Amino acid sequence: MRRVEIFDTTLRDGEQTPGVSLTVEEKVEIAKALERLNVDVIEAGFPISSQGEFEAVKRISEEVSGPVIAALARAVEKDIDRAAEALKNAERKRIHTFIATSPVHMKYKLRKDPEEVKRLAVKAVEYAADKADEVEFSAEDATRSDWDFLVEVYEAVIDAGASVINVPDTVGYTTPEEFYELISYLRKNIPGIKDVKVSVHCHNDLGLAVANSLSAIRAGADQVEVTVNGIGERAGNAALEEVVAALFTRKDVYKAFNEVNLSEIARTSRLVSHLTGIEVPPNKAVVGANAFAHESGIHQDGVLKERTTYEILDPKLLGFSGSRIVLGKHSGRHAFRKKLEELGYELSGEEFERAFERFKEIADRKKSITDLDLEAIIQEELGSSVNPYRVELVHVTASKGIATATVKIIDGGERVEAVWSHNGPVDALFEAINRAMGVNAKLLEYRVSSVGSGKDALGEVLVRVEVDGRISVGRGLSTDIIEASAQAYLNALAR
Ligand code: KIV
Ligand code: ZN
Repeated sequence: MRRVEIFDTTLRDGEQTPGVSLTVEEKVEIAKALERLNVDVIEAGFPISSQGEFEAVKRISEEVSGPVIAALARAVEKDIDRAAEALKNAERKRIHTFIATSPVHMKYKLRKDPEEVKRLAVKAVEYAADKADEVEFSAEDATRSDWDFLVEVYEAVIDAGASVINVPDTVGYTTPEEFYELISYLRKNIPGIKDVKVSVHCHNDLGLAVANSLSAIRAGADQVEVTVNGIGERAGNAALEEVVAALFTRKDVYKAFNEVNLSEIARTSRLVSHLTGIEVPPNKAVVGANAFAHESGIHQDGVLKERTTYEILDPKLLGFSGSRIVLGKHSGRHAFRKKLEELGYELSGEEFERAFERFKEIADRKKSITDLDLEAIIQEELGSSVNPYRVELVHVTASKGIATATVKIIDGGERVEAVWSHNGPVDALFEAINRAMGVNAKLLEYRVSSVGSGKDALGEVLVRVEVDGRISVGRGLSTDIIEASAQAYLNALAR
């Protein structure tokens, strides 16, 4: 069995998913979840690209220990300097530098010839080498590059000090058979390759990202770059949970292991979905709501007699707990704390008190509080800690196509209020909030879903709004969806 390293790029390539924009706090929260998941490397961001990205990489470097922290940089000195600065306080730091090597990228995007590209790659790696513990080099669009040119470039960057060479399928173009050949070719033809790690980074444009990554592992790749729930640029990246589940289930084929903590998969997937606003499709492998649901009578009968008749993976191993009813309105702090510990949350004193108060408020209106409810409450509380706005009153009446919303909001120490009428209750509510807050926010997306099932299920609302050209996501949670909508809107405005 060989060890394969798991390089998570949810916070970098995953954050490039259209419509996703995470705050620094949220990125730190995801990085802590990745630490619990025990990935080997966390790519925390692309520091030169914005002040927010820089701050996130810096905070993660300071607050997360265990995994190597990586930061992305183009093959230019100013990017590498910024990455090094952001990583300064990381326990173990990696600079990940890249330049494109395919004919189409070199000619049209870079307007440089292959010799110049190779020279810049070497210069960047040499420059980064004494600024981090490890340097990773990526030949962007490797799968559409000339194989002999790739051999030349990778050999040159290994000589310059790269300790990881990454082979990205940037546009999701390759196939499992071809990628196997490419990785084998590189391993055979680059003399220095035995001294470095070979990494792969697959995109999902043809739905082959996971298959290509696994094929590369069979060909000897030492590291796979993945994202939680497979989010990422365009059709996304290889999904962490699918690669890990395949390596676990088919050890006989891949003969490779990794140290990911399987029992954290369910929770990490829910957290990423919650904070990015990207829902996991129900039929998604490993983490979709239907991944372990059995509809046909024959299947149900089989699973009841022997789980493995129709399940190749035990959902409990992945952290999908079987427990349903756990806490209710009579539960006290002690039981609440115990349950949080069981779910793996460590809340500070103030966070704990806020979450407990919110739990009591909801438990007063809802008969039973499930693990899913609790997770939603905690994530909502952690996410709203930056929100200075509080709903004091929200009242909506609707009749014959006209709705009127009254809102009172506490903004810092001040109360602001407005009344607005429109043809739908949600339209009226959001416009009343705009008026009260003096903003002109545009609603781009509005989604309501229930957390768990049952008549008294919590309603979770997601809104995506645009204010002055900036897009942000907010969530709200309540047994009353109008109240949840107001909270979600204010959370989005606060961000
Ligand atoms: O897809 C890609 O080529 C990348 C590189 C920066 C590794 O994300
Ligand atoms: Zn990518």
